[in-house]
Amino acid sequence: MDLTLKIWRQKNSDDKGKLVEYKVTDISEHMSFLEMMDVLNEQLINKGDEPVAFDHDCREGICGMCSMYINGEAHGPDKGVTTCQLHMRMFNDGDTIYIEPFRAAAFPVIKDLVVDRTSFERIQQAGGYISVNTSGNTQDANSIPISKHAADEAMDAATCIGCGACVATCKNSSAMLFVGAKVSQYALLPQGQVEATDRVLNMVKQMDEEGFGNCTNTGACEVECPKGISLENIARMNREFLKASIL
Ligand code: SF4
Ligand code: FES
Repeated sequence: MDLTLKIWRQKNSDDKGKLVEYKVTDISEHMSFLEMMDVLNEQLINKGDEPVAFDHDCREGICGMCSMYINGEAHGPDKGVTTCQLHMRMFNDGDTIYIEPFRAAAFPVIKDLVVDRTSFERIQQAGGYISVNTSGNTQDANSIPISKHAADEAMDAATCIGCGACVATCKNSSAMLFVGAKVSQYALLPQGQVEATDRVLNMVKQMDEEGFGNCTNTGACEVECPKGISLENIARMNREFLKASIL
């Protein structure tokens, strides 16, 4: 298929940036979206032009790096997938595709489609760990009873890959779904209880300091999350926060 691409080009964080039009031809419907971007970049390099900068690593939906806003949706039109898992069969011959970086004050654009998401890392550093006795008397994980329900819910929360689509989609640029998932994955397990109070207070404090907006229960984050992280995690974080605040 032949496509017209309107891509956000921005030299650096100080540059104003603008949409630039490109044409790509003979794109196979079996290609992934990033492979289509590779074809464009090869074309640009052959012409002596600067390739489009975009983030990627695993290309299999695990690392959360491939943050792109495609035709007005984080990770594009398919549901439950990251940009690297999005296939060109979701588009039609002759389509015009708008490709922009994730936009949020806490995710400044570094170059073209690459944004700085280290704010997420600082939130994780503020509380995303557990105390484990590594003195040689470590308790065998299998000897710690955990209900199936709690294990399943913790595992679901832990599938968050930190891609930031929830932030990019939210009209308030709220990071509550991400932080809710990170708080929940520990709050549900006995191993996470030692720092439970400090964790939720510190992570929420860091989230606010990074400049993310607040949650107004719109629910757009849940719809666009490629890992199906549920709003229930935000409710659980709010309960944990309230509990920690009065302790
Ligand atoms: S909650 Fe979903 S959208 Fe947000 S960072 Fe995690 S995986 Fe990405
Ligand atoms: S490149 Fe790793 S999730 Fe897309």
